[in-house]
Amino acid sequence: MRPGTPQHRDLFCRTFIDTHVVFEPEALPWPDLEPKYLERLRDFPLWGYARAIEQRAGRMVTAFAQTLDDPLIREAVAVQGVEETRHGRLMTHVLERYGIAVAPLDISDPPARREDFLIFGFGECTDSFVGFGAFAVARQKQLFPDSLLAIFDNVLYEEARHIAFFINWWRYEEARAGRDRMPQRWLDAAKYHVRALIGTAKGASDGPQLPELDGAQIKRMLDGLTPVMVLEAALAENARHMSRLDSRLIKPILMPTLARLAVVALRMLPPRAEAPATSRLQPVGTPASQSAA
Ligand SMILES: [Fe+2]
Ligand SMILES: [Fe+2]
Repeated sequence: MRPGTPQHRDLFCRTFIDTHVVFEPEALPWPDLEPKYLERLRDFPLWGYARAIEQRAGRMVTAFAQTLDDPLIREAVAVQGVEETRHGRLMTHVLERYGIAVAPLDISDPPARREDFLIFGFGECTDSFVGFGAFAVARQKQLFPDSLLAIFDNVLYEEARHIAFFINWWRYEEARAGRDRMPQRWLDAAKYHVRALIGTAKGASDGPQLPELDGAQIKRMLDGLTPVMVLEAALAENARHMSRLDSRLIKPILMPTLARLAVVALRMLPPRAEAPATSRLQPVGTPASQSAA
């Protein structure tokens, strides 16, 4: 399907709106957790940051939707705002239900211009890919019971829908403005990815600050893992989520491409840099073919 056409817009908006699932976080089947799982949950150092990021995203995306002229795109972006706001509520519920003591972070109203949505959207492509890898590791190492992982799997599927919607919206807009050409498209995408990464690393002036982790916390989180294992797990998980989306949609490919290149480069390093084959994480699901973004 050609980007920029009314058919393209109808596809990426309708598939997004139609796959929205109505639910209340408090009504999900939250399991009672054994002490070892509770301890692991409470040990995770990024709860406050993650909740603040979702709350901020909910406000920003909802505000951005109201600035859009096209009623169908406006409706779709508003649905994303509902889902991001719900992610924030879901995080709050996790903290309350499992007794995780985290003080709420102050979030001022974020700016919601087109440029802000672009940085946010490309940042989501990176964050979601990292989230896919972290989730795959948690599942493969059985860090939490399946009943809890199933809830977070659905959250990550919503994020996969968000980034696919975002990439299609961006391609639609760029095509209509006559800018949908290579290599300019890749350069623009790379520029927004970098701006999002810088914002995350430095902490946006009006956004939550990434907390400093000590060496012991990082060691516990990455215990027994190599970069290749995490990258391969993220790639397989990304493919699994993308395969659930309509095959006619454009899929984000910058992060998967960089991850594949990194795997190739890491495999060329001396053997000690890589884990033995028997300890590699096993991918789950069937990898999907990726469309060019
Ligand atoms: Fe979210
Ligand atoms: Fe999202």
